[in-house]
Amino acid sequence: MTSASLLIVDDEKTTRDGLRLALEEKFDVYVAEDAASAFEMLERERFDVLLTDLRLPKEDGLRLIDRAKSLAKPPVCILMTAYGSDETIVEAMKRGADDYIAKGRLDIDLLELKIDKALRTRSLEAENTALHRQLDVRFGLENIVGESAAMREVFETVRQVADSRATVLIRGESGTGKELVTRAIHQLSPRARGPLVIVHGGALAPTLLESELFGHEKGAFTGAHERRIGRFEQAQGGTLFLDEIGEIDATVQVKLLRFLDARTFERVGSSKTLVADVRLVAATHRDLHAMVRDGRFREDLYYRLRVVEIILPALRERPSDIPLLANTFLREFAEANGKKLNGFSNEALEAMMSHAWPGNVRELRFAVERAVVLSRHENIGLRDLPPEVRQPRAHTSPGPHPFGTSSPTSPQTHADFHTSPASTSTSTPAPTPAGGLTVQEAEKQLIIQALRDTGGNRTEAAERIGISRRTLHRKLHEYRLEGF
Ligand SMILES: Nc1ncnc2c1ncn2[C@@H]1O[C@H](COP(=O)(O)OP(=O)(O)OP(=O)(O)O)[C@@H](O)[C@H]1O
Ligand SMILES: [Mg+2]
Repeated sequence: MTSASLLIVDDEKTTRDGLRLALEEKFDVYVAEDAASAFEMLERERFDVLLTDLRLPKEDGLRLIDRAKSLAKPPVCILMTAYGSDETIVEAMKRGADDYIAKGRLDIDLLELKIDKALRTRSLEAENTALHRQLDVRFGLENIVGESAAMREVFETVRQVADSRATVLIRGESGTGKELVTRAIHQLSPRARGPLVIVHGGALAPTLLESELFGHEKGAFTGAHERRIGRFEQAQGGTLFLDEIGEIDATVQVKLLRFLDARTFERVGSSKTLVADVRLVAATHRDLHAMVRDGRFREDLYYRLRVVEIILPALRERPSDIPLLANTFLREFAEANGKKLNGFSNEALEAMMSHAWPGNVRELRFAVERAVVLSRHENIGLRDLPPEVRQPRAHTSPGPHPFGTSSPTSPQTHADFHTSPASTSTSTPAPTPAGGLTVQEAEKQLIIQALRDTGGNRTEAAERIGISRRTLHRKLHEYRLEGF
């Protein structure tokens, strides 16, 4: 069995050498003299144990532990403290230190015991996490439907980051599943039993948001009649989801940056520094990078937030997920409404595939729910879909069948989603949104899907789509799908 690797961080050479001598028989020992070089080593190589002095030049041991715990595979962290005030120890534990030892007269036997114990606990935790993982495939990620390459990448990233405390920034249009992904990250993480606290950055006035997040003392401002615990404190040991982070003002941005740097903050109206062991997940539908360029968002905060970035593509950019999502929602709502439904008619599926879905998955979900309620047949037909979905190409007169016409463009309307259905059914042509799905793309996806579903059987695929075998052949040629 290989021995566990141990990184000792102390600025005094005598301590470093003494510890190395005492421990190198049992462990694979490395040393560093300050936090910066230690962190570099931790980033380069995986260590089992980090044993660090509290007092270090520049960055202290707490901060180092903090950063170490944000790594994808964090080491067991033990703090050595000569200044063992209880408060420091409590703070160290809150920040994720696994244990501590007084440095005054360092007891090597005790230290070895502590290291062994911490390692044992960690391996038990690892086993639990592995078990947890197997469950989670059902619990955490099962609710997120998607097979497109983009969504697979999202699943992979979620799995990879869940274990750490790394801050995650999720970007995506409204309704693409930002909250759903956050729930999965929380669920899959070792914090799953801790709280998941959700705050909407845009829902409150800036001063209110500050006290919502960080709390306030009695009398901190007019109307502050009671002390109030902020969301960060509430999220202790868990995850804080800060939605619409693009909406927060400069004051809150500064406080947030400070929190991400040192895990510390103060309640409004108090000078007492508090610590919280909280993982932050932030989301936005805005282009934060552009906001940084325009000076509306702090650059340093932006980089702090996007340690891990997850981009949820708009639904129109992954049309191959549409049939899968639609069928999942169909089953869900059919059951909820006690209806027996088989699926969608080809026309309905085609219309859904060529709609731009400005409200993304949320809009699709509502559309299917509505259709399930309205439907009086075994299959959901075109007539059951909302008008804006039914008529994606408002100004091309012959029916919505993409194969029936050779219309080159598909002017899908973004604006429609926000107006009432009554006004959209007679909509005038709107410009094609950037990145909107063209009829050709929708057709292609539909064909691919049909071929997949039928195991490549062209006769069946053609039948399923509702076109002749000859047309299918022509289309396969057109889209260079012959080899499919
Ligand atoms: N991949 C998916 N699989 C299944 N359901 C999804 C998926 N993506 C989103 N949904 C559903 O769509 C709805 C919207 O998702 P969610 O609230 O996570 O979006 P959001 O990105 O946070 O939107 P907003 O920016 O408007 O807050 C929810 O009902 C969610 O369950
Ligand atoms: Mg949301």
